[in-house]
Amino acid sequence: DKDGTQTIIDAGQKHFGAVACSVCGMLYSAANPEDESQHLLFHNQFISAIKYVGWKKERILSEFPDGKIILVLPDDPKYALKKVEEIREMVDNDLGFQQVESKCPSQTKTFLFITNDKKVAGCLIAEHIQEGFRVIEEPGPEGTEGEKVMFERQRAWCCSTTPEPAICGISRIWVMNTMRRQGIASRMLDCLRCVWQKRKEKTDFNLVPRSLTLFCVFFLLQRNNFIYGSYLSKDEIAFSDPTPDGKLFATQYFGT
Ligand code: ACO
Ligand code: ZN
Repeated sequence: DKDGTQTIIDAGQKHFGAVACSVCGMLYSAANPEDESQHLLFHNQFISAIKYVGWKKERILSEFPDGKIILVLPDDPKYALKKVEEIREMVDNDLGFQQVESKCPSQTKTFLFITNDKKVAGCLIAEHIQEGFRVIEEPGPEGTEGEKVMFERQRAWCCSTTPEPAICGISRIWVMNTMRRQGIASRMLDCLRCVWQKRKEKTDFNLVPRSLTLFCVFFLLQRNNFIYGSYLSKDEIAFSDPTPDGKLFATQYFGT
């Protein structure tokens, strides 16, 4: 159709002669002034957002040779919440999310991965929710590993319409471009599961298999943000959806 064709052409032009910034990771064409000024805007926002000066009181959940994971909760001091807000805005820009307010800010848990040189290299925002929708897996075509990855990157999401009980929703998961594939997202998710588990033990909640719960909800939020969100139409997803990374990661993490 006409719109579909337009999308392909636009995408083609956008990536013609594009370079990825080695700092913020944004793909842009240096030859295009509009692209370049857009890059500059994001670049500055990125630099400011990832700067972490260190706080008097931190809730350290885990320490590693390459950094640490801290947790920020809604009742924390203003400066901590301001930082989290700044990071969330930058991540939303990076993901192409429209600014969406958290459904229930008093229930939000933010996990940050801080590198030894005091940069925020990863961010995971989780919320309490009631239910999730399972992704319907359609078998992809046969082929090499590379072909399968290409296919996964391009296909749209498909969810069941039957809600399943869930308690934890991941509304954002993001790792700085230059630090990906070092297990940072996995480690943040491990921490999240650990925190949720402790809470459940204390309050004696019904236990749902954790892997199942997280899996459903991960995709629920994908669906809210992308397919039913006002930003991207279904047709656009194949081209502009930045979350195939997220799916490849989740598929691996949850072992499906
Ligand atoms: N392609 C293929 N497999 C992947 C990819 C990928 N892009 N990313 C992760 N995996 C798989 C791999 O098997 C990986 O293990 P390996 O490196 O040993 O092969 C495994 O998942 C674990 O990956 P991590 O290193 O823990 O993941 P990482 O720290 O790189 O972060 C993330 C993954 C968050 C998806 C990152 O790529 C990112 O920030 N992408 C851009 C933002 C984005 O799309 N986020 C998801 C949005 S959806 C949402 O927020 C609800
Ligand atoms: Zn840049």
